[in-house]
Amino acid sequence: MSADNLYFHKHRVPRDLKEKKNLHQSRVIWFTGLSGSGKSTIANATEKLLHDMGIHTYILDGDNVRMGLNKDLGFSPEDRTENIRRITEVSNLFADAGILVLTAFISPYLEDRESARKVIGEDFVEVFVDTPLDVCESRDPKGLYKKARSGEIKGFTGIDAPYEVPTNPELSIRTDQQGIDECAQIVVDYLKENNIIK
Ligand code: ADX
Repeated sequence: MSADNLYFHKHRVPRDLKEKKNLHQSRVIWFTGLSGSGKSTIANATEKLLHDMGIHTYILDGDNVRMGLNKDLGFSPEDRTENIRRITEVSNLFADAGILVLTAFISPYLEDRESARKVIGEDFVEVFVDTPLDVCESRDPKGLYKKARSGEIKGFTGIDAPYEVPTNPELSIRTDQQGIDECAQIVVDYLKENNIIK
C-alpha cells in the first residue's frame, strides 16, 4: 500500500470554523487503564457533564468499537496495536469535525499510546485511570478476571498480558480514592484550566 498519487483535499469549512461555531475546541481525551479500572464509567460521567454544558462530544469505547469497526481484531499484541491505530485515526477525524472525543481503551502499550500522541499531536490528552489490579479484580464487572485466573481466557491484561503504566500522562485519576463524579470533575476542570472549554 502506498500514499503515492493521493492528494489531500483542503475543505472550505475547516476545523477552526467548526470550533468557532461550537464555542469550544476539540480534543481527544484518551483514557487508559486496566479492564475494570473505570475508564468507560468516568468517560460517561465526564461526557454527561460536558453535554450539559453544551459541548459536542463523542465516546469511543473498546467493547463497543470491537463489536463494529474492529470486530476483526482480537487481543494479540499485533491486534491491540491495530485497534489503537484505527482508534487514533478515527479520533483524529472526530476532532477535525470539531467534536471533543473521549476514548476508553485499555491501550496497554506505551509505544501505541506514544504513536497516538504523535498522530493526534497537541490535541492528545492522556488520562491514566490508575486503579490497582487488585481493586479491578475485586470489582470484576464482567467476570473476566475470574475467567482469566482459571485459564479460560488467555492473554488477559494485568494477568498474563502486560499493562505498561503511562510515564507522563496529562492527568492521573485514582478511582479507588475518589468517587466517579469527582473523577469526572477533575477532567472537566482540566479542560477549563487549559481554555479548551469555557
Ligand atoms: S486494548 O488492549 O486493545 O486496548 P480494548 O480496550 O479495545 O483493549 O478492549 C478491552 C475489553 O475487551 C475489556 O474491557 C474486556 O471487556 C474485553 N476483553 C476480552 N478479552 C480480553 C483480554 N484478553 N484482555 C483484555 N481485555 C479483554
